[in-house]
Amino acid sequence: MTQPQEHRAQFATRLGVVAVTVGSAVGLGNIWRFPYEAGANGGAAFMLLNLFFVFVIGVPVMCAEFVIGRHSGTNVRSAFRRMAPVQAWGIVGYIGIAASILILSFYSVVAGWTMEYIYRSIAGFGGSTATAMHNSFDAFASGNVRPTLWTIAFLLCNYAILARGVEKGIEKVSNILMPLLFVILIAFCIHSLFMPKAREGLTFLFHPDFSKISARTVLSAMGQAFFSLSLGLGGLITYAGYFSKKTPLVKTSLLTASLDSLVAILAGVIIFPAVFTYGQEPAAGPKLVFEVLPAIFSEMSGGVVWSTLFFLLLFLASLTSTISMSEISIAWFCDDLHMTRRRATRLNIGIAMALGSLCALSFGCLGGFKIFGMTIFDFFDYVSSNVLLPVGGMLISIFAGWVLKKSLVRRELEISAGHTRRLAGALIFCMQYVAPVCILVVFLAGIGIIKL
Ligand code: PHE
Repeated sequence: MTQPQEHRAQFATRLGVVAVTVGSAVGLGNIWRFPYEAGANGGAAFMLLNLFFVFVIGVPVMCAEFVIGRHSGTNVRSAFRRMAPVQAWGIVGYIGIAASILILSFYSVVAGWTMEYIYRSIAGFGGSTATAMHNSFDAFASGNVRPTLWTIAFLLCNYAILARGVEKGIEKVSNILMPLLFVILIAFCIHSLFMPKAREGLTFLFHPDFSKISARTVLSAMGQAFFSLSLGLGGLITYAGYFSKKTPLVKTSLLTASLDSLVAILAGVIIFPAVFTYGQEPAAGPKLVFEVLPAIFSEMSGGVVWSTLFFLLLFLASLTSTISMSEISIAWFCDDLHMTRRRATRLNIGIAMALGSLCALSFGCLGGFKIFGMTIFDFFDYVSSNVLLPVGGMLISIFAGWVLKKSLVRRELEISAGHTRRLAGALIFCMQYVAPVCILVVFLAGIGIIKL
């Protein structure tokens, strides 16, 4: 059904707006992806680069998405079609839709792992040493059937919430879960700070060694910023279509970027002291968190409860993120292809189930199948985070900075602005120059087209 602008749903409260935006941003990107990317790319240096990208590029691009979304009040593809002088801008919408489906596919695999770990927290991990955790994760992930079934199960949960619609499903879930996740992360941080090798872990996370940084690392840090803030694919354009005219865009973006970075740093503070205490390899890749965390829980008093609670919250935080990914194509299917919400949701989840199963199997029987030297899972991750999101983000930023009328952008940014008024000019400058140039240079250097 086509939904004209005035009949579109809106998030009910100011808290709801922040909770859904933060809910989209905070997820596996912070707690699973950030620690293993930082672990593989030199720790503190990666983290500092990531923070730079979050605030200097991420915040302006997020504001650009908000402005485009709220002003057009529609899905990502129609937004460009309605506001752009030439149809070619519609490509940004397609980039976003493609990226959202790729991310949803591999993300659901990891979210499926969290479901297995909720089950194991209760049923027992079958050992408590770091080596036992390592072996049991490998045996599970390479086992084909279970990881694929969990991927499908996770996508079914996603379906159940999405089919209920924006206000009933998304907003309610986000409002409760996000604060709870935050509290439990702080409790785990305190525990990690008392581990025998906490100092080594914290040094790794906070003392930068820039000699470890290469152009590819810089691209990964930028990709992580886009991934973690849910930027560059129009997810926030779609969500901003549900914002009220009073929502202060600049404040919402600064708050989201700060909370999102804080959660990633807290995850690092939890993980790295444990990595060093248990003699594990910081560069272990995607499995890092799933091997280290159970080892931490096994030595805490009341470990079963902590572990169950943690993986449950991680699972729920993943859900609030995948909901925003799915919403990108669902809004497009409904608004432009005139599908009912239920059909659109089924289509989105069906595609993700097929592609997600391939990603799950790439840790098992499809492990030998490589695309440009990467497994299907790694390829989906690399192409979406390091190519599609930065390119999408660059185009979104150019669109808001150069194609839209400056007075319109300024007005949208300044609504109920308060002290953020002065920031509007700086943000527009970043949208016009800083973000596009920076993204282009980092991207071209990262893929080896230019040498710095
Ligand atoms: N930002 C989410 C996370 O950190 C992932 C995400 C990416 C969500 C893109 C929506 C769109 O887990």
